[in-house]
Amino acid sequence: MDLMELLATRRTYRRFAQKPVPADVIADMVEAVRLSSCGANRQAVRLVIAASPEVVAQIQPLVKWAAYLPPEQGTPKPEEQPTLFVAMVQDTTIPGDLDTDTGIALANLTLAAWAKGVGSCIMGAIDRNKLAPLLGLKEREKLHTMVALGYPAHGSRIVPLTAVTGVKYYLDENRDYCVPKRSAEEIARYL
Ligand SMILES: Cc1cc2nc3c(=O)[nH]c(=O)nc-3n(C[C@H](O)[C@H](O)[C@H](O)COP(=O)(O)O)c2cc1C
Repeated sequence: MDLMELLATRRTYRRFAQKPVPADVIADMVEAVRLSSCGANRQAVRLVIAASPEVVAQIQPLVKWAAYLPPEQGTPKPEEQPTLFVAMVQDTTIPGDLDTDTGIALANLTLAAWAKGVGSCIMGAIDRNKLAPLLGLKEREKLHTMVALGYPAHGSRIVPLTAVTGVKYYLDENRDYCVPKRSAEEIARYL
């Protein structure tokens, strides 16, 4: 897959096959974050990887899915749950614009996963108070986001953003996600 195709198909996935993510894909994700650009090369982003089915099951009720959809459409059923979670953690003793650094790390991580067919959902609607002790975070560490991962059990495609769609993603008749995006003309202007 060339890079533009990888970017077009690396969508958010919210229903997954019950098949573990192999260790080599997890290693690629770690390497993709390790290589990320970051302010002053300070490298404040840390990952906590939850791959064991027991810990994954403990994390599942602490994340919220698909705010634009009713739960029966957007929340994965028990047999559709992600099989891996990665916590994006910031070492707050290191100065800098850690949110920008973490955003770049998230893009690298989810692309590295997708290059091997593993889909993801970046999750900001999470119960940080319950997740921090479960993940064993240290006092100086801040939980930025969780990433849910697994082999997708649905499709997702970009559709034009119109007055009718607005920005809200929706499911088509096959329960595939349709994700409205603004046109190139709307987001870029040339001087
Ligand atoms: C910072 C951030 C936080 C997000 N939080 C959630 C979340 O808590 N739950 C969820 O289901 N999706 C979440 N998403 C996924 C977005 O809804 C998704 O990226 C958006 O609808 C566009 O879809 P796309 O990723 O396929 O382009 C989040 C994405 C980002 C970048």
